Amino acid sequence: MDFLSIPIIILVPIFLLLVFFYTYNQQHTYGRKTKKYHPVCGTVFNLLIHFNKVHDYLTDLAEKYKTFRLISPFHGEIYTTDPVNVEYILKTNFENYGKGTYTHNILEDLLGHGIFTIDGDKWREQRKVSSHEFSTNVLRNFSSVIFKNNTIKLGNILSEAANNNQIIDIYDLFMKATIDSIFKVAFGIDLDNICGSSEEGVRFSRAFDDANTLTSRRFVDILWKIKKYFNIGSEAELKKNMKVVNEFVYDLIRIKIEQMDKTNNEFSKTQLIKEDILSRFLQMKYEDPKYLRDIILSYVLAGKDPIGITMSWFIYLLCKHPEVQDKVAREIKEATNVKEEITNVAEFAAYVTEGALKKMQYLHAALTETIRLYPALPMDPKICFSDDVLPDGYNVKKGDMVSYLPYAMGRMKFIWGEDAHEYNPKRWLDENGYFHPENPFKFTAFQAGPRTCLGCFMFKLSDVNKVPRYRMSINLHIDGPLEILVYNRFGLKNR
Ligand code: HEM
Repeated sequence: MDFLSIPIIILVPIFLLLVFFYTYNQQHTYGRKTKKYHPVCGTVFNLLIHFNKVHDYLTDLAEKYKTFRLISPFHGEIYTTDPVNVEYILKTNFENYGKGTYTHNILEDLLGHGIFTIDGDKWREQRKVSSHEFSTNVLRNFSSVIFKNNTIKLGNILSEAANNNQIIDIYDLFMKATIDSIFKVAFGIDLDNICGSSEEGVRFSRAFDDANTLTSRRFVDILWKIKKYFNIGSEAELKKNMKVVNEFVYDLIRIKIEQMDKTNNEFSKTQLIKEDILSRFLQMKYEDPKYLRDIILSYVLAGKDPIGITMSWFIYLLCKHPEVQDKVAREIKEATNVKEEITNVAEFAAYVTEGALKKMQYLHAALTETIRLYPALPMDPKICFSDDVLPDGYNVKKGDMVSYLPYAMGRMKFIWGEDAHEYNPKRWLDENGYFHPENPFKFTAFQAGPRTCLGCFMFKLSDVNKVPRYRMSINLHIDGPLEILVYNRFGLKNR
């Protein structure tokens, strides 16, 4: 891996000297000013050594210290699993912790000035417009129809696999189905990755995924700016992928603007999809194509990975816990109250109404329990804007990176009890079997405070002994295929 080997070979000796100097200097300063700093558990170099299991490595450290530091040559790095500190950085002193220029610079090529890269008034404006849009019936109804249609497509593929006793990669299917859905909600266009009918759609999706992975490497590649300047290695690759992404998206924006202009005159209103997010922003008179690209592409990223990832880990856990799988299936059958003979997936989907979904309390618990153990965003860094003291009494310096760790937090015994590592949906149900939410500063998978997330068959593993690993990226992707066998639980026949 070029992005790891170069810094390791060139910089390790310099880095060790810096660590020595930094640690000595810190102790000296702290002693004099009687400031307390969280215990040092290593250097960021350890993150590189444990790169492929970094979240478990951080979990192990958090088991010793709820909050700890890793030494870095550029800024202090603080990692916390303490809900009291989490509440403080995400809510009580929200204004003092944000993306900062550090995160903004890393994400800018991919997401520009979209909601994930900005702070302050710019963020407040986007948040206000977005939360209003996300709560409208137009967007809710439009996205429900789209997600349902793509789920039917997915169901048909599963049904076929079940009939043919075929192994399928469910992770790949979920990722394709979610990008198809979210992209249509965002831009009004069907990429059809699931059937692969659109070459352009597949090309865009691949470039967008690669750009996402290459962008996440910048968090550990201290030479990325130099590589970008000389346009070499991973940065040259990123540039190539971004060209594909931008050309595709700017084309869509241009076409949509032209269509909207026509709509005002002679173009039949019924022929144009106007419920997608891009059209909604155009109707609100957002006209700068670059800003529209930034806003809407950020939504695609926001929705796409978390849903596909969560569904994949969910199916994995259902396969490992057949008793939970049976219970979920029984509840779905009872809640949908399917009486007549069902012969295909679309017919069944018609029974999955909002009313039926509300009855599925155990399913809600099983999904939430999945997200507790496998949060789509396993670690979330914030930059401290001015010197501060956290509620646990330890100091933080301006420019320090303070990360809360949803993956490690989901495994902390002091938060969840002795069975913290176990998959147990019942922990989310009250004595009457109703779902009860947890304190969002303990269950941090959706973040918490003012920046909280806005969105919100029978399966068996083909190889029961294979434990999936995660791939290092911003999100907690499954590394490689997740191959499963599908059986028709409700006796559905093929299409
Ligand atoms: C299992 C599903 C999901 C999980 C676990 C999840 C998790 C998160 C997390 C951790 C954040 C904070 C990220 C940050 O630090 O900036 C976030 C923010 C956000 N999420 Fe989600 N998300 C999910 C689904 C969705 C969906 C479907 C959408 C809709 C497109 C969405 C829209 C957003 C938006 C717009 C933000 C930015 C909020 C802000 O910065 O003010 N999310 N989500």
